[in-house]
Amino acid sequence: MREEGLLTGDPTPEDEAIEFGLRPHRMDEFVGQGALKERLAILIEAARGRGEAIDHVLFSGPPGLGKTSLAGILASEMEAHFRGTSGPALDRPGDLAAVITNLEAGDVLFIDEIHRLPRQVEEVLYPAMEDFQLDIVVGKGPAARSIKIDLPPFTLVGATTRVGRVAPPLRDRFGYVARIDYYDRSDLSAIIHRSAAILEVDIDPDGSETIASRSRGTPRVANRLLRRVRDYASVRADGHIDGGVAGRALEVFEVDEVGLDKVDRAILHAVAVKFGGGPVGLSTLAIAVGEEPETVEDAYEPFLLQEGFLQRTPRGRIATERAYEHLGIDRETNPSAQGTLLGE
Ligand SMILES: Nc1ncnc2c1ncn2[C@@H]1O[C@H](COP(=O)(O)OP(=O)(O)OP(=O)(O)O)[C@@H](O)[C@H]1O
Ligand SMILES: [Mg+2]
Repeated sequence: MREEGLLTGDPTPEDEAIEFGLRPHRMDEFVGQGALKERLAILIEAARGRGEAIDHVLFSGPPGLGKTSLAGILASEMEAHFRGTSGPALDRPGDLAAVITNLEAGDVLFIDEIHRLPRQVEEVLYPAMEDFQLDIVVGKGPAARSIKIDLPPFTLVGATTRVGRVAPPLRDRFGYVARIDYYDRSDLSAIIHRSAAILEVDIDPDGSETIASRSRGTPRVANRLLRRVRDYASVRADGHIDGGVAGRALEVFEVDEVGLDKVDRAILHAVAVKFGGGPVGLSTLAIAVGEEPETVEDAYEPFLLQEGFLQRTPRGRIATERAYEHLGIDRETNPSAQGTLLGE
């Protein structure tokens, strides 16, 4: 059985229940991303100085890196209301109109998964973002007429895991587009330390480091692994988490030293051995490991690419030296790892 979502950034129901308490609410509680935080602090301070709403901001990056948290922080630092919705929830222009006409001056309107906004809704958003005007058609047929409503100045904060799918005219209307990158190990350690304090978990620096190094650069994964290690520590040890306890716990959950799970290793093995190192196309690869292409592309591949286990070429994915090393396969002596190219 695969541990559902143990290492992917997508939130599980348990994450959602617990994240409210773990989510940073002020800029100084948000660990890491120093350069990005400095730019946001400048936006906030300048807007406050002028007594205006902050310019619209778009956050992009893989799941679980803090996009929603940052949107909330922007609102609380501006002492503004936070109104959250999402692309899929705004099905028709009227849905957006209902949300937007309820905003007060300075409010933060957060639209998660903004790349999934339907086109006709997006078109209502353009004048709202640019001129704080709502242009909407009421009625049908010959009685239809277009009305304009003035809106209070507000800040739209968008979030997306797929910035390439945000329509360029929408992207261009954001005053600042921020990319959030994977976290380094020391930042993840600090996040684990902070979460452990909130959850009253007894962990030492070695324990935090061990979990951090296997968290795929992702705070949500770090918090999730901390909870699994806490479970292990309370039933298989005396509750205290040190490096050894954390290591043994993660072994039980089949998370390896660099944070790869069974599916990651299956992907690497498929590219490296079954497909002779590649290139292999996404759909062929997905079939080989029994996952959906989107799951491979969104949940697994970004980290494997970032860590240099895989490379993407126009002809498909190829395995790197590091992949062979990690799998313990000698490319020279393993005949199937240097076979003919089976890619698409
Ligand atoms: N920089 C950080 N410092 C401390 N905790 C963090 C940080 N970033 C994220 N977290 C933790 O990770 C959890 C997930 O973050 P968040 O929900 O903001 O991610 P997201 O990018 O919006 O993910 P998704 O793409 O799934 O919506 C938060 O609840 C919080 O506990
Ligand atoms: Mg989010």
